[in-house]
Amino acid sequence: MRALTWQGVNELSVETVPDPTVQSPTDMLVRVVRTVSCGSDLHLLGGYIPFMRAGDVIGHEFVGEVVEVGADVRRHRVGDRVVMSSFIACGRCWYCRHEEFSLCDNTNTNPAITEALWGFSPGGCFGYSHAMGGNAGSHAEYVRVPMADHTAFTIPDAVSYERALFASDSVATAWTGVELGGVAPGDVVAIWGAGAVGQMAARVAQLVGAERVLVIDRVPERLEQVRRYVGAETIDYSTQHVGSELLEATGGRGPDVCIEAVGMEAHAPGPDFLYDQVKQQLRLQTDRPTALREAVYQCRKGGTVFVLGVFAGVVDKFPVGAMMNKGLTVRGAQMHGPRYIPRILERMERGEIVTEHLATHVMPLEEAPHGYELFKDKKDGCVRAVFTP
Ligand SMILES: NC(=O)c1ccc[n+]([C@@H]2O[C@H](COP(=O)([O-])OP(=O)(O)OC[C@H]3O[C@@H](n4cnc5c(N)ncnc54)[C@H](O)[C@@H]3O)[C@@H](O)[C@H]2O)c1
Ligand SMILES: [Zn+2]
Ligand SMILES: [Zn+2]
Repeated sequence: MRALTWQGVNELSVETVPDPTVQSPTDMLVRVVRTVSCGSDLHLLGGYIPFMRAGDVIGHEFVGEVVEVGADVRRHRVGDRVVMSSFIACGRCWYCRHEEFSLCDNTNTNPAITEALWGFSPGGCFGYSHAMGGNAGSHAEYVRVPMADHTAFTIPDAVSYERALFASDSVATAWTGVELGGVAPGDVVAIWGAGAVGQMAARVAQLVGAERVLVIDRVPERLEQVRRYVGAETIDYSTQHVGSELLEATGGRGPDVCIEAVGMEAHAPGPDFLYDQVKQQLRLQTDRPTALREAVYQCRKGGTVFVLGVFAGVVDKFPVGAMMNKGLTVRGAQMHGPRYIPRILERMERGEIVTEHLATHVMPLEEAPHGYELFKDKKDGCVRAVFTP
């Protein structure tokens, strides 16, 4: 089959790779109908997650049709339309029973790397390096879906593949941040990053009753989407002062919940950008935490900062003094897809979550390297590139 492969830093190519097969009775095979690029893939592309091998198939957000099921798969049948959680869940371990699915103890088949890095290993993910299990990714014609009963969800007839695609990861990520960040009715929520994750975090915050939601970025087309399709307020950090705007919006108190949806490749207009970039390039820190620092400073006393953006290792100049003295709660998580996908599909069916505008560029899989170029450089208003194998 054809698949998009990582060949080296900033080097992608579509190649012919071996067809996947059912390897265990709990596996199924899915013919990919749509798969979408994600900000997380940019971290792989840029070489910031150093556990890739040439030839690895990337991609972790996808929908498709079931073409073969293993003997123990109960919830899915050949022909079903399904959306997969980007993180694979066994459904049985202690973490899965506590609905912390991305922390699954059984699905990262290569836990040694992350145990050495972080003390314990999170679960496995599709197409996200050998540190996350080395599973083949979704930018391909077919994908082997392990633990299919817990990782895949039937798409209701009334929800299109185009919309359901974003339940796979970005909306589920958004819901993880909003729920575990404790967003409550009446809250003011500030979100850094107007990519698909930040936009959907804004939408989910509205759905759970936030009174005001403000999204911070500098890319005009993305900020325009936030206003037009999400109906949230925006702050353009290249022309506005983020701190003053947030104080103004909260009567001087600061946002109750600050969600960081930017991650390790954050940009900054000031001199700290150069500082962070040089340190990252020299491997003196693995990540650039610009937006994270700002969220910690701007959050109200006693508020919560939730880190949805992906970070890999250690950062410099983390404002631990502000965190401690202001009594902040700082949390983060990879998304717990299986916990949120069923309710997201219901909301999608009712038209309460729309995602079509995020798919700014739809193209055949063969053109995926070009799609990634547009997405990485945010050219031509690209918010997400969608591939149709
Ligand atoms: N936790 C999870 O499970 C999970 C799942 C999916 C994605 N992610 C991560 O979430 C982050 C966002 O994903 P995405 O697909 O929306 O990515 P994206 O690259 O499309 O969007 C990131 C946005 O952040 C903006 N940005 C950069 N620096 C900023 C700053 N200092 N202040 C405000 N905005 C800034 C960029 O302009 C861009 O619009 C990435 O780090 C991704 O890896 C995490
Ligand atoms: Zn993703
Ligand atoms: Zn598990």
